[in-house]
Amino acid sequence: EADTLERDFQHTVDADQRIEPRDWMPDGYRRTLVRQIAQHAHSEIIGMQPEGNWITRAPSLRRKAILLAKVQDEAGHGLYLYAATETLGAAREDLTQKLLVGKQKYSSIFNYPTLTFADVGVIGWLVDGAAICNQVPLCRTSYGPYARAMIRICKEESFHQRQGYELLMTMMGGTDEQRAMVQDAVNRWWWPSLMMFGPPDDASPNTEQSMRWRIKRHTNDELRQKFVDMTVPQAEKLGVTLPDPELRWNAERGHYDFGAPDWDEFWQVVKGNGPCNAQRVAHRNRAHEEGAWVREAAAAYAEKRARGLDR
Ligand code: ACO
Repeated sequence: EADTLERDFQHTVDADQRIEPRDWMPDGYRRTLVRQIAQHAHSEIIGMQPEGNWITRAPSLRRKAILLAKVQDEAGHGLYLYAATETLGAAREDLTQKLLVGKQKYSSIFNYPTLTFADVGVIGWLVDGAAICNQVPLCRTSYGPYARAMIRICKEESFHQRQGYELLMTMMGGTDEQRAMVQDAVNRWWWPSLMMFGPPDDASPNTEQSMRWRIKRHTNDELRQKFVDMTVPQAEKLGVTLPDPELRWNAERGHYDFGAPDWDEFWQVVKGNGPCNAQRVAHRNRAHEEGAWVREAAAAYAEKRARGLDR
């Protein structure tokens, strides 16, 4: 019987149909999804910090309104994704707790500092650009609630990417000092953006099984290549150089060749030793403590309503 269930499950996946919450699924499939979706949700929530850092210092009302909207979108993405994990039987409080004590990961990219306002533009262009590259295929991931959440998230991510590119275009049309700020930010964010796609395929323990389950639709290296191919012409149009001496068009492959990121740095950041890991987690813990009264009030109100005492 277990064999039949497993065979039917794989058949559904292979036929490119969605698995829904009430369907039978292998334990490993459920675990992998909770792991990946929770990590994704945590990334959205922690990802509010680097840019949130500039909201009070945005150079104009227009830039401030855009940035506020963007950072609020990230919170929304985190919430849809936590809701998707709940359809798999996970409890949001439990996942939150694991983030707070450092037991669950979030994306390496958010452990780098945002030193100037140009970083806001470069995060939009490169970081959100990489996120879109990774997430558009997830709209076709095999688990229904995750796929549907991704459709909405991707629409918002493309707005984020555009606002970043437009901000950089504006700065590049400004003074020499502004152009230098943009180039400096590109130099600092380029390699960490490539690391967002995860380790190379031959060092990625989860890819093979996740591809078979169609949780992932492309490997880490495939998506990294796609991102480079997409970004190089944008950099040329913008008038910045990408800090990789090995970057060049390979006509035979029909792709850009590029250098390898510093994978030691990547694993250090993933292990918690990046430039801002401690600060990010401490900030999230502080915000969680300061929000305790909101959770208590919401729970008390829900309880009162359940007892029919709200009037
Ligand atoms: N930062 C932190 N951890 C990472 C990263 C990264 N950039 N890339 C990989 N890892 C972790 C994996 O979570 C895994 O850890 P675990 O097994 O202990 O959970 C380990 O490194 C090995 O990597 P893989 O086997 O390649 O892991 P996986 O198959 O999950 O692929 C990937 C990683 C590509 C990030 C995948 O999980 C994914 O597509 N996730 C959804 C997108 C996402 O989370 N984006 C977040 C950033 S974008 C944004 O929020 C704007």
